[in-house]
Amino acid sequence: MTTSTKSNIFIVSILILSVLGCKNPKPNVKLSETVFDSKVDSLMNLMTLEEKIGQTAMYSGGWSVTGPTVSTNNKKYIKEGNVGAMLNVYSVKGTRELQKLAVEETRLGIPLLFGYDVIHGFKTIFPINLGLAASWDLEDIEKGSRIAAEEASAVGIHWTFAPMVDIARDPRWGRISEGAGEDVYLGSKIAKAYVKGFQGDDLSKHNTILACAKHFVGYGAAQAGRDYHTVNMGEGELRNVYLPPFKAAVDAGVETFMTAFNEVNGVPATGNSFIYRDILRDEWDFKGFVLSDYTAIFEMVQHGFAVDNKDSARLAMNAGIDMDMMGDVNRLYLKELVDEGKVDVAYIEDACRRILLTKFKLGLFDDPYRYCDEDREKEVIYKPEFLQAARHSAAISSVLLKNNDEALPLSSEKTIALLGPLVKDKENILGNWGAAGDRKGKAISVYEGIQEYLTDSKIIYAQGCDIETDDESKFNDAVIAAKKADMVVMVMGEDYDMSGEAASRTNIKLPGNQTKFIKRIREAVPNKKIVLVLMNGRPLDLSEEDTLADAILETWFPGTMGGNGVADVLFGTYNPSGKLTVTFPRNLGQVPIYYNMKNTGRPIPASNPHEDYKSHYLDSPNTPLYVFGHGLSYTTFEYSDFKLSAETIGMSDSLTASATITNTGDYDGHEVVQLYVHDKVGSVTRPVKELKGFEKIFLKKGESKTVSFDLKVEDLKFYNSKMEFTVEPGEFEIAIKGTSDFDFEHVFTLE
Ligand code: NOJ
Repeated sequence: MTTSTKSNIFIVSILILSVLGCKNPKPNVKLSETVFDSKVDSLMNLMTLEEKIGQTAMYSGGWSVTGPTVSTNNKKYIKEGNVGAMLNVYSVKGTRELQKLAVEETRLGIPLLFGYDVIHGFKTIFPINLGLAASWDLEDIEKGSRIAAEEASAVGIHWTFAPMVDIARDPRWGRISEGAGEDVYLGSKIAKAYVKGFQGDDLSKHNTILACAKHFVGYGAAQAGRDYHTVNMGEGELRNVYLPPFKAAVDAGVETFMTAFNEVNGVPATGNSFIYRDILRDEWDFKGFVLSDYTAIFEMVQHGFAVDNKDSARLAMNAGIDMDMMGDVNRLYLKELVDEGKVDVAYIEDACRRILLTKFKLGLFDDPYRYCDEDREKEVIYKPEFLQAARHSAAISSVLLKNNDEALPLSSEKTIALLGPLVKDKENILGNWGAAGDRKGKAISVYEGIQEYLTDSKIIYAQGCDIETDDESKFNDAVIAAKKADMVVMVMGEDYDMSGEAASRTNIKLPGNQTKFIKRIREAVPNKKIVLVLMNGRPLDLSEEDTLADAILETWFPGTMGGNGVADVLFGTYNPSGKLTVTFPRNLGQVPIYYNMKNTGRPIPASNPHEDYKSHYLDSPNTPLYVFGHGLSYTTFEYSDFKLSAETIGMSDSLTASATITNTGDYDGHEVVQLYVHDKVGSVTRPVKELKGFEKIFLKKGESKTVSFDLKVEDLKFYNSKMEFTVEPGEFEIAIKGTSDFDFEHVFTLE
């Protein structure tokens, strides 16, 4: 640095300190946005257009690879004041080094934001998000994201690119693993829980981070489940199904949004002003800032929407995208586009203002290094209570899909043949988006988890097969183990990178020869119980496994403490309570299949599912293998005494529905009680069932509880064909059940 640059910095720093007020508030003191607004204005008065554009650019530090390689010159750009944020850099040392460049070597010393994909944990990895959703436990989800924020914020991270709130109904799509599943109501509740967990109640605290609702919008509806693929949907579907979780995130105060890679009805999301300007800003009054997905801006050229990269910068800024992730198009072209009159400078001013405001809210102008704290890093990473929480989340996320003849829980008296490629696994168990988690030994394998319950002499281990190869050479050892043991537990599934980004599959069966292996074991021990423990990032076609195994426990990828959490369920320390938030089809041909489909004009009669000229398949039932809301327990629950506070309600009334749930089995346990409604006739047709409420309760054996839901008229609203959010009078069916698989028996009328 030359002496003159140094003295410039000195002069400008003095200037900034005076306009910002030297007596900056202490961290942890919540300031009103108005105070920040005036500080932002003062700062912006000092900035050149290039510096404002600089705030709208984000580059990768390359510590994690989360997209195609693009060459950038980060340090140079930072020093030139051309960078507002970085991704994929973490650790106190790593973030401090770059922050120092921004703060000490640029003209205005504006601190950088550091963003990272903290998706289901940072170091302490929780179950994948689809698994967390299956817990239906909003408090636990909030707590898990709070823990993730605690860990990430201690190593310099200010911002997570989560939650992914895309509704997803296609198991081929690898990113179904990152969301909450197929349902709008549940997805919206979960979106809020994540945002609250990450952002906490005060962004100025050093242990809270910015959340990011992604991917806006429609990403989960990619044609044929192929990642990044085209999305076409009517505005009704967009508003009724895909937008609500994003709106919920806005209502919860989410600070940032990320664009989607896909096009929506012919216009790439990243250049779609209807989505960003009309809906997000004008209708929803979103005040935070919008980040493009990784190189999504210049990908509009490949989409056939932008002429060239420069044109893509124009389209994105005009559409309302405030920050460019990795595309390097804002730095290169925005100034020119303003000079040519193709981008209104006010858009850039707005983008810069929003980004700076966020930096103020985080307290970065008070102390740019406040998130880089070695002591806190040592103290919080893998804190015992965090690991304990991850163990609990793994247990409550597991879904017992099948349990014939009480194959589960396991008894510590019996000898177990422990077979399969994932028994000793410590790598895949973290799932995709394992963030900074340790795949090389920190995680507890299922084998180790089971060792807490069984002496080694009662475990006979054989791997048997691989996840993906066709190698059968290890089958025989496993057959011998199965014959020696009292029963068999097989831990099978997908590789962790078979789900997540760019990980779509056209075959949703267990990969490799795993099913063949299960068959071989079944043939070898026809009379012994076989328990299948699954780890996977999507609904699988388990039709064959369902006929071969006595019990199936879906554990998703359960995270750092997965082995313990899963063993707790297997041995009954935790009675399983997870319920599917996504449908498991019988075969891929049924996809898309989800519980709240429409009825059609020719639904199949229950009495004759094969009746001709009805909406069905020749070669498969319409019903899935496991429905949304399904999940067994070691105990049984009986639902009785359904009551409605009224049979008819008016537009300003609300309705209370209640039912008594009794634990009729032999174990204490949790039950997820679900409220469903069916709007029988609408000016646009309504789904056959819609989740409108749920409550997770705990019942000791023999205990009963009455669960009540207050249903407001507002809860029955939907977007009609004129895109009015409205409710229509008429008859509604209603039920309180423990699954979505039921026929309605009760009706109320809205007048
Ligand atoms: C691309 C993914 O779509 C997005 O979800 C992620 O946050 C970014 N890469 C950054 O890693």
